[in-house]
Amino acid sequence: MTEFVRVARTGDVPPGTVRRVEVAGHAVALANVDGEFFAVEDTCTHEEASLSAGGLSGEVLVCPKHGSRFNVKTGRVLSLPAVRSVAVFPVKVEGGEVFVATEAQKPTGLPHRR
Ligand code: FES
Repeated sequence: MTEFVRVARTGDVPPGTVRRVEVAGHAVALANVDGEFFAVEDTCTHEEASLSAGGLSGEVLVCPKHGSRFNVKTGRVLSLPAVRSVAVFPVKVEGGEVFVATEAQKPTGLPHRR
């Protein structure tokens, strides 16, 4: 059964922002897209950069290091130099608090290339 851990209050991550949180020992970028929360692996698949340190534009997360873009809803990589998608973590909101699953689901969209 999937386990969820509490990572933030909804007010901690206002719409249009992203924040790095820890989930069972791994770094996750928690994004608020128009009041809906999404979580993806925080480390860029190109090099060691924290995606949550970049900007969020709509549902697109931009890597601060070389500018690769990722869809926060699907994890799909949208532009070079990264070529692999990031993992997506299920999210649920209850009582004004945000919970993220401890296990990622497979990215959707393009195949997860290695
Ligand atoms: S480290 Fe993210 S695009 Fe290079």
